[in-house]
Amino acid sequence: MELENIRVYHGGSFVAYRDAKVGLLTHGLNYGTGCFEGIRGYWNADHGEVYLFRLAEHFARLHQSAKLRMMDLSDDVVAMCHATIELIRQNDYRQDVYVRPLAFKAAEEIGVRLHNVRHDFAIVAIPHRSYFESGAGLRTCVSSWRRIDDNSAPARAKLTGVYVSSALAKSEAIGNGFDEAIMLTPDGHVAEGSAENIFIVRDGVVHTPPLTDAILEGVTRKTAIELLRDELRVGVVERSIDRSELYQADEVFFSGTAVGVSPVIEVDRRPVGSGSTGKIAAALADLYREITLGQVAKYRHWLTPCHSSKSDRLKIPKTAVS
Ligand SMILES: Cc1ncc(COP(=O)(O)O)c(C=O)c1O
Repeated sequence: MELENIRVYHGGSFVAYRDAKVGLLTHGLNYGTGCFEGIRGYWNADHGEVYLFRLAEHFARLHQSAKLRMMDLSDDVVAMCHATIELIRQNDYRQDVYVRPLAFKAAEEIGVRLHNVRHDFAIVAIPHRSYFESGAGLRTCVSSWRRIDDNSAPARAKLTGVYVSSALAKSEAIGNGFDEAIMLTPDGHVAEGSAENIFIVRDGVVHTPPLTDAILEGVTRKTAIELLRDELRVGVVERSIDRSELYQADEVFFSGTAVGVSPVIEVDRRPVGSGSTGKIAAALADLYREITLGQVAKYRHWLTPCHSSKSDRLKIPKTAVS
């Protein structure tokens, strides 16, 4: 599909991608003063439907990110959900999609600050392509680049400029022959991947860094914790994790919108556990895949269908907007 011709949502209306322009001096482009989201839509051919996963939760997080950027977004969560459904329909997507909402300081002027700068909002949806080249488990390294401290630039929100840290770590990892980087907090604890939250398994219990350890408040992380506890009946502990525990863990896996649940089979050239996908990661990945495809009735409320008329009566979970 030609990017130029896709329909996007920009400044409150639906336009062609080629007509949604920003200028060279745009504040967000120069100073990284924006925030964004990554949302997946899963195509189920049997249902003839694209299911958007935890749509309202993503837009609720965008509003939280926008607060940190001193932006008062004019579209509320419900309006953003409707705009996304409309976008999938206008592009007539019948395949997996990746949705990228972006709010950014739009003034074309010099002067770094957050206050008194007008902002703009856009949503682009494109066909989804696999995030990692490796279809099997991931080979990772601990990055020499640290995650940013909350007192420098908050990692808990999805802020554009903060991603320079992820980009440095990712390129270093790829340059050294790995699939992905694992980043440490400023004080040396395990934080997360360049674009994923991280989990380790030790003696049958899952451990993951707490939200206060310089990580993004991941939607898939929250989902994984719920599924591990409620469906797989596995204990989950949120606590700081030492680097050396990565080497001793029975399993390590990532969670994220782009990657789903992705097993890690190597850290710093040391095999994780037996060096192949662990049981808990495999069970969680299977369940997550089935849920996102709309195959598990109990979790259909996490999905927003785009093509059926049901989406016109969109229900927003209270937890997502509180
Ligand atoms: C730095 C970082 N951590 C974690 C995640 C996973 O978050 P989510 O599950 O909400 O996609 C992402 C992806 O958005 C990310 O960029």
